[in-house]
Amino acid sequence: HAATDYQAEDATISQGTVATNHLNYTGTGFVDYTNVAGSYVQFTVDAAAAGQAGLQFRYANGSTTDRLMDISVNGTVVASNVSFPATANWDTWVTKTVNASLNAGTNTIRATATTANGGPNLDKLTL
Ligand code: GCU
Ligand code: CA
Repeated sequence: HAATDYQAEDATISQGTVATNHLNYTGTGFVDYTNVAGSYVQFTVDAAAAGQAGLQFRYANGSTTDRLMDISVNGTVVASNVSFPATANWDTWVTKTVNASLNAGTNTIRATATTANGGPNLDKLTL
């Protein structure tokens, strides 16, 4: 099936802000996670069928250290401390894919920063 983009700026944001102060994002902006553990972006997504899906997070990390996030699906952490390595700068976006099992229909996918650095800047989730 065709991939669908879910823009981070349209998702539920806890301890983060929608920003536009770097280049090359898609949609109308991106989420700048507050640099604290526990900051998150939660997407509501639709899966045509139950089963494994590749969750493609488009992010930028212009810092010099990996940013770590837990990925949860429907309230359960399915991938802990996933690394979002540094990119060339805050204008350079790359995709990190996390495989997870989804239900048919509506699912919630949350990406939560696990360190005081917060998450990377997050542009969108595609699946
Ligand atoms: C800079 C950058 C932000 C980024 C932040 C961070 O302030 O401009 O876009 O989110 O660093 O370190 O998280
Ligand atoms: Ca930030």
